Amino acid sequence: MEEKILIIDFGSQYTQLIARRIRELNVYCEIHPFNAFPKVDNKIKGIILSGSPYSVNNNDSPNFNFLKFPEIPILGICYGAQLIAKKFNCKISQSNTREYGRAKISIRKKSKILNNIKLDSIVWMSHGDSITDVSSDLEIISSTNDVNVAAYKVKKHKIYGLQFHPEVTHTVHGSKILKNFTFSICGCKGSWTSKKFINTSILEIKNKLKNDKVILGLSGGVDSSVAAFLINSAVGDNLVCVFVDNGLLRKNEYENVLRSYKNLGLNVIGVNAKNKFYSSLKGKIDPEVKRKAIGKTFIDIFEQESKKIKNAKWLAQGTIYPDIIESVSVKGPSATIKSHHNVGGLPKKMNLKIIEPLNTLFKDEVRKIGISLNIPKNILNRHPFPGPGLAIRILGEVTEKRIKILQEADHIFISSLIKENLYNDIWQAGVIFLPIKSVGVMGDERTYENVVVLRAVNSLDGMTADWSKLSSDFLSKVSNEIINKVRGVNRVVFDISSKPPATIEWE
Ligand code: XMP
Repeated sequence: MEEKILIIDFGSQYTQLIARRIRELNVYCEIHPFNAFPKVDNKIKGIILSGSPYSVNNNDSPNFNFLKFPEIPILGICYGAQLIAKKFNCKISQSNTREYGRAKISIRKKSKILNNIKLDSIVWMSHGDSITDVSSDLEIISSTNDVNVAAYKVKKHKIYGLQFHPEVTHTVHGSKILKNFTFSICGCKGSWTSKKFINTSILEIKNKLKNDKVILGLSGGVDSSVAAFLINSAVGDNLVCVFVDNGLLRKNEYENVLRSYKNLGLNVIGVNAKNKFYSSLKGKIDPEVKRKAIGKTFIDIFEQESKKIKNAKWLAQGTIYPDIIESVSVKGPSATIKSHHNVGGLPKKMNLKIIEPLNTLFKDEVRKIGISLNIPKNILNRHPFPGPGLAIRILGEVTEKRIKILQEADHIFISSLIKENLYNDIWQAGVIFLPIKSVGVMGDERTYENVVVLRAVNSLDGMTADWSKLSSDFLSKVSNEIINKVRGVNRVVFDISSKPPATIEWE
């Protein structure tokens, strides 16, 4: 990319949102923790300082020496704005009441940052401290009824501060304000599009891989699929995708995925390893023990298959940006790296070099790349599915009989969602098998069979989720069909827990 904006993270809950808003303007941006600034290069067109749960008046509050970059325009948001103001001799004090929610701004002075923003425009406030005494280094450009300094400019620099949050959609003209910053102040052109990303990535992948072979563990999910198609566009058949049937996939999924990917021109090897997974899971009940057994078996099989591929020097992974963003922990100033769900352990064990072409993208950007690569919608819109598969949806021991029951029940639930046009409105759905039995009556006979749970959630990123409000008519149809058709189930329940405090998966 030719231009980028850096976002300095002080631990705000909204930092990722700032990145999303900037990227929506077709400007590439990166998030970095305040204490780990990357190398400066001439692609950096602007720096944004995020908000924070800290007060700038605390001794141990996060700091960042923005004065080191006199040529680069800077925008401070909330805490970021207060940090800048404090450096320019203003006083920051705790307000009598925390200001939280919508406010109307008045414009006090014409400025590039608030160009074309109307008087009384609604903004989103969320702060305890305010800038109270303003030094002569700053000029106030906007106020609200409650705060004198809603926005300011540092007179002799291209530095701006906003007390409100332009990244939150409640700030009605927030995107316009961020556009003013990135385009008018930083001089960005907005040339970071899906097409451009694809073209540059293909060139980069070609240069990196040359004639080497690269292997990729295909899961059937969005990220690994898009990574596969992108790499395939660069190196064709030098990409070998390995799709492992761990026997823990949905009904017919192995056959369906394998067929559809081959039809789309990917070089895919299918490996039937059901029995190895089943025997590794035998007798295991604890969720973590089950996960570890699956992870290890996967590594063994992948290693065994990769040895069969001559000249394989690279391992491709569908890692995406949220998996690797170093975010500042609000509990302490040290930088923590989120662990991610990719199959752990693969790289170190196999001496393969890693290539992760999607590791700068958010999930919806991955989907957009997928659309530009003409990947069919049914692949791109597939619900997330956990790596350990149905094993973590069968509570207790995983047996073939339980897998079969769960696959049938899950198939009915998911097909019904598709049939009723509900599938794409739901972020993730599935069925959970409970290792308990309850009494029922079917015809004239008493039954004593298993319970399954329907789980459907709405979410943006899986970090938080709410249960989907499916209609009672729909639930009743699904329940009847499962009990009538799936031998071994006589009771269906619906999970109405949100995350937090529950999680999406039961194990
Ligand atoms: P939880 O259960 O933590 O799940 O609310 C959040 C999202 O992550 C998925 N998930 C996994 N994905 N390997 C994966 O690839 C895993 O071990 C794993 N555990 C949970 C889950 O399906 C949901 O989308």
